[in-house]
Amino acid sequence: MLTSSLPVRQVSEFAADVRASLTKCGQRELPSKYLYDEVGSALFEAICVLPEYGLTRADARLLERHAGEIVGRLPSPIRVAELGSGSGKKTRWILEELSRRQKTYYYPIEISPSALAACAKELGQIDLVSIVGHEQPYLEGLRTVAEGRGEQDHLLVLFLGSTIGNFDRDAGEDFLWEMRAILRPGDALLLGTDLEKSVALQLQAYDDPAGVTAAFNLNLLARMNRELGADFDLSCFRHEARWNSAERRIEMHLRSNCRQTVQIPAANLRLMLDEDETIWTESSHKYKIEEIPGMAERAGFRCDAQWIDEEWPFAQNLLVAK
Ligand code: AVI
Repeated sequence: MLTSSLPVRQVSEFAADVRASLTKCGQRELPSKYLYDEVGSALFEAICVLPEYGLTRADARLLERHAGEIVGRLPSPIRVAELGSGSGKKTRWILEELSRRQKTYYYPIEISPSALAACAKELGQIDLVSIVGHEQPYLEGLRTVAEGRGEQDHLLVLFLGSTIGNFDRDAGEDFLWEMRAILRPGDALLLGTDLEKSVALQLQAYDDPAGVTAAFNLNLLARMNRELGADFDLSCFRHEARWNSAERRIEMHLRSNCRQTVQIPAANLRLMLDEDETIWTESSHKYKIEEIPGMAERAGFRCDAQWIDEEWPFAQNLLVAK
C-alpha cells in the first residue's frame, strides 16, 4: 500500500526515474531533483543558514551590495523571471531597485507550490511590484513568461544560488543555450556561480558537524519509503561528501554500511547493495571566475560584468543575450 500525497502521474515519474537510475550499469545514482520534497526543502533552508555553508549568504550579500549597479546595466522596460525562486528572500534587493524606476513584473518559476506561496508572501508587499508565480519546470515556465510579454519588454532571468552547479558541466551549458533560445537579443541573465575554494572548506560545507546535510541526503531514502513504499533502513546508510578534483565538484553519496537488499515496490525493484557500495545523489560543480565568459559565449551570451564576494568566493555574472 503506497502512502503518498503526490498525484499518480508524479509518483509514477518518480518511480520510473528511481528505477532507471538505480539499475544503470556501474555507479548507482538517484536524480538530485528528488532531494526537494517538503522535508528536503525545509532541510535545504536550514543548510542555507549553517555557518559552514557560506554560499547562500555570499549570493545574498552580492545582490544587496550591487543591486544598484546591476539594475543600472539593464535595458528598460524589463520584466523579471526567476528560475527556482525558493522563498525569494534575496530577490528583494533587485526588485526594490527596479521598482524605483518602473512598475515591475516578477515571475517566480518553481515546481513547488509551497515555495511559490512563500515567495509571494515575502515579496508581495513591495510597492509597484506585481508577482505572478508559474508552477512549471524551468524552461517551460520561462517560455510562458517570454511569450506573454509585450514587444518592447526585455527580460531579466535570475538563476541564482549556483543551481547551475547541480548540472553536469555539459548539461549546464546546454541549459544556458536552451534559455538563450527563448530570449531576445539584449535580454539579460544574472547567473550565480560558486567558485573553487580550499578542499577543506568545500567538504565542510557539504558535511556539516550538526548533520543537517546528512539528514538532507538521507531524506531521499525516507522519501522513497514514504512515496514508493520502499523499505530502506536509514541506519544502514551514511552520508558522504567527496571532492572530485578531475571534475571540480563536490559529490554527495549515500554509502551502504552492509550488504543488504531493499524493496522498492512502486518502482518494481529489488535492490541489492554490497557493503560500502554508494548511491550518488548530487553533484555541485565549482567554477573558476575566468571560465564563465567562455561558457557564456558558447551559449550565445556576452559576459557584461562579474561581482565576486570576498568572504566566500562566489560570483554573480551578468550575461547579455547576443
Ligand atoms: C541548490 N544547490 C545549489 C545546493 C548546492 O550547494 O549544490 C544544494 C545543496 N546540496 C547540499 N548542500 C546544498
